[in-house]
Amino acid sequence: MPSVKFVGQDEDVRELAGDAGDTVMRIAVDGGIAGIDGECGGSLSCATCHVHIDAAWVDRVGPPSDYEAGMLESTDSVQDNSRLSCQIIFSDALDGLVVHVPA
Ligand code: FES
Repeated sequence: MPSVKFVGQDEDVRELAGDAGDTVMRIAVDGGIAGIDGECGGSLSCATCHVHIDAAWVDRVGPPSDYEAGMLESTDSVQDNSRLSCQIIFSDALDGLVVHVPA
């Protein structure tokens, strides 16, 4: 089963298996990743699912939509590699994806 690696705020790494079609937010929340809350359930209205995409994966994950980018601007730690993880649909092509949980 493909998996995602979540790098925590203290640099701890947890690898969680995910099903294709799940969002990265759902994988994180179901796995209890601290700092990814997904309060709105993925309806693009809370930004509590903010992650930083590892540099090696930015191109494969792709950029945010204009609306998502606007939501990201409301977060404290927005960077060029920021995404809302509820907008990233996991797939076999993203097996091994590395995301960092913002401070
Ligand atoms: S879970 Fe609310 S914006 Fe992603």
